[in-house]
Amino acid sequence: EKGTYPHYMLKEIDEQPLVMRKIIQSYQDEQGALTIDQEIIQAMNNADRIYIIAAGTSYHAGLVGKQFIEKMTKIPVEVHISSEFGYNMPLLSEKPLFIFISQSGETADSRAVLVNIKEMGYKAITMTNVPGSTLSREADYTLLLHAGPEIAVASTKAYTAQLAVLAILAAVTAKNRGIELRLDLSRELGIIANAMEVLCDEKEEFETIARGFLSVTRNAFFIGRGLDFYVGLEGALKLKEISYIQAEGFAGGELKHGTIALIEEGTPVIALATQESVNLNLRSNVQEVAARGANTCIISMKGLEVEGDTFVIPAVHELLTPLVSVIPLQLISYYAALHRDCDVDKPRNLAKSVTVE
Ligand code: F6R
Repeated sequence: EKGTYPHYMLKEIDEQPLVMRKIIQSYQDEQGALTIDQEIIQAMNNADRIYIIAAGTSYHAGLVGKQFIEKMTKIPVEVHISSEFGYNMPLLSEKPLFIFISQSGETADSRAVLVNIKEMGYKAITMTNVPGSTLSREADYTLLLHAGPEIAVASTKAYTAQLAVLAILAAVTAKNRGIELRLDLSRELGIIANAMEVLCDEKEEFETIARGFLSVTRNAFFIGRGLDFYVGLEGALKLKEISYIQAEGFAGGELKHGTIALIEEGTPVIALATQESVNLNLRSNVQEVAARGANTCIISMKGLEVEGDTFVIPAVHELLTPLVSVIPLQLISYYAALHRDCDVDKPRNLAKSVTVE
């Protein structure tokens, strides 16, 4: 039930700190160490390459998950859109392991790939919010998201839950491989839960940003580099699906290769600046669009902020920033849709789970 909330989407955005804490608990052993079913870790270790298969928001979580897994475990990862993989399978490695990311566990495009690779004799993990879902039953292993029912069509808490579980999978696998990580993931996820809470308490800020940047525009751009680029893709998807604003997320450095032609007086450009190694480059991309008249909104992270940034999010571990930087984008989309009188929880033409190919 949505209780006092006007929409499920807002309720589900607000539940994210709680979901983080639930995930930490659910994946802890009695000693408080993060743990994952030994069989799953074995499967990870036996793989020479991991193939993440997903659609929509879950695909965007996969893009971030690749970074987590590669950086922590050193196992190469490919991320594929399920409907593309099904009809145009890439060359597979000798010992592939498949991870299907699906909130609902019912997405037909992903299921088609699962059936196919099972026939080929390969192993699969399904990461899902729904125990007993089709993809969970048909895969060898299941990793649960523990996000609770997600009712709004636009996925929010499932995305951050997917990121958290992907990070735990990566960290536990790394530990098992004897790789020493310089991060204490349970602690970092706790810090993230607190940062999420701070952001959820600052809703008026995001309402103001939505009103100022998005209430009349037909289009909007999200830019970022590294992890911020992937979060920008998710921000653009969120904005498109609930506010019907034509939105595009792209890598800051790609601007000059074409997209910058679309920037005119007043075009909204939302930039994410949470990555230290590319902060200066990103800042110059912002200048490039501002010089062409763009209306720039900069969301940066504590420690990397520059005077004049629109909003500064609390500092979290550099590898885990997507878990918090997506929240401003979820809230901005929510308020943009609200101000444009859109049906936030049930956008036109969309269904919560897509059971046709
Ligand atoms: C976006 C959204 C969709 C789903 C996609 C995959 O907000 O909800 O893009 O992410 O249809 O769904 P699942 O994760 O259930 O396979």
